[in-house]
Amino acid sequence: MAKVKSKYVCQSCGYETAGYLGRCPECGSWGSFVEEIDTPITKKASDIELIDSMPPMKLDDIEMNSEIRVSTNISEFDRVLGGGIVQGSLVLIAGDPGIGKSTILLQTSGELSKHNKKILYVSAEESASQIKLRAERLEVKSDSLYIYPQTNLELIRKHIEEMKPDLVIVDSIQAIYTSTIQSSAGSVSQIRECCNILMQIAKSKNISIIVIGHVTKEGNIAGPKVLEHMVDTVIQFEGDKTKNYRILRSVKNRFGNTSEVGIFEMGNHGLSEVINPSELFLKEYNQTQTPGSTIIVTSEGTRPLLVEIQALVGTTPYPAPRRIANGVDTGRVLQILAVLEKRIGLNLSKQDVYVNVIGGIDVNEPAADLGIALAIVTCVRDVVFDSHTAIVGEIGLSGEIRAVNHIEKRINEAQKLGFKRIIIPASNEIQEEYKDIKIIKVKRILEAITRGVTN
Ligand code: TYD
Ligand code: MG
Repeated sequence: MAKVKSKYVCQSCGYETAGYLGRCPECGSWGSFVEEIDTPITKKASDIELIDSMPPMKLDDIEMNSEIRVSTNISEFDRVLGGGIVQGSLVLIAGDPGIGKSTILLQTSGELSKHNKKILYVSAEESASQIKLRAERLEVKSDSLYIYPQTNLELIRKHIEEMKPDLVIVDSIQAIYTSTIQSSAGSVSQIRECCNILMQIAKSKNISIIVIGHVTKEGNIAGPKVLEHMVDTVIQFEGDKTKNYRILRSVKNRFGNTSEVGIFEMGNHGLSEVINPSELFLKEYNQTQTPGSTIIVTSEGTRPLLVEIQALVGTTPYPAPRRIANGVDTGRVLQILAVLEKRIGLNLSKQDVYVNVIGGIDVNEPAADLGIALAIVTCVRDVVFDSHTAIVGEIGLSGEIRAVNHIEKRINEAQKLGFKRIIIPASNEIQEEYKDIKIIKVKRILEAITRGVTN
């Protein structure tokens, strides 16, 4: 009998080595190596079938099937998918445990089955009665939705081939295993192989498959990043578990735009779409004006979003002042502080600075710079920023305000929400005429301060 060999695999990035290592040379994570049985990959039935069904073809001979998309009937979900689920595609939905992945997919299944689509929901984590309980809560009723509590991929494959459903949901990739590999379920090798097999099923049978993946605390999808390369679309499910809203964000999409977002609110009957997200984020915005608070128009994908930025600046009791940023990149805040010190002479060397984006949303774009800077300046000077003025603009190192993308969409959103003025970079060209909102173009940071701050 052949000797059983083992290997050590980094559970974070999939790096393999013959001996144990404390730190992964590939991704730098500590203590991530786990011993796995090294199964010699012999010919697998699944491989042979794929090769047979797809011999090499001349480019000219390939028949092009027009892309068939199936709408989920949840417009926020469709938007993130690029207009619906593409037939035969493999989609990965990744997110923290408890964020609502099973909920949204059960709701989607319910919606699709209303339109006579046959759906196979493979539940590898929960029992059929647990799913039933959730379905009752979500008021999902259907006679074309099949629940299959199973963890073995060979059995799952058999049922997919017999049933030929329109959509398969696998909840979750970490909980299923294939018998062709000896490692335990959830290990890198298992996840990689299972995903591979699911990809083959999707492509060869032209069945759409949505796979759920849990994100580790380091933020890696299913531990290994390898999954991201294999699937057609990766959708991240984010949100603060303490708040009710959730964001679906497309991070990779072979069939549509990336960085599109869909916004939902979690309620007693599952997730409901948020049609006007700016209103949600400005719900608690204090119109009575306080120093250190500004409204920016950020852009999530192609969609503008108004959010409140707050800054708090105070004398530090520590030898080195603290700089804390929530929802924005700390490096970006440090850069803005450096520009404020150098270009407008704001002395912050003995001050703690806290910057916070209200609502727990992450704003990761330079267009938020000017809003952050003005929040800091108004807090230092203890003056208020006009509450009817929204702000957009990137700050350059010499204090100049630089152009941002999607400017007209941002202005429209601010106007729609009743803002009277918007400060934008002078270099942004605008074609449209705006009746209800005054556009203030600024070239330098000092100009923005004098035009937006009332004493
Ligand atoms: P779930 O979809 O099970 O999360 P995941 O599959 O991502 O692990 O969602 C679990 C959370 O959602 C749980 O904390 C309860 C909450 N929830 C609601 O608030 N309302 C609902 O209608 C449902 C079904 C769940
Ligand atoms: Mg779940």
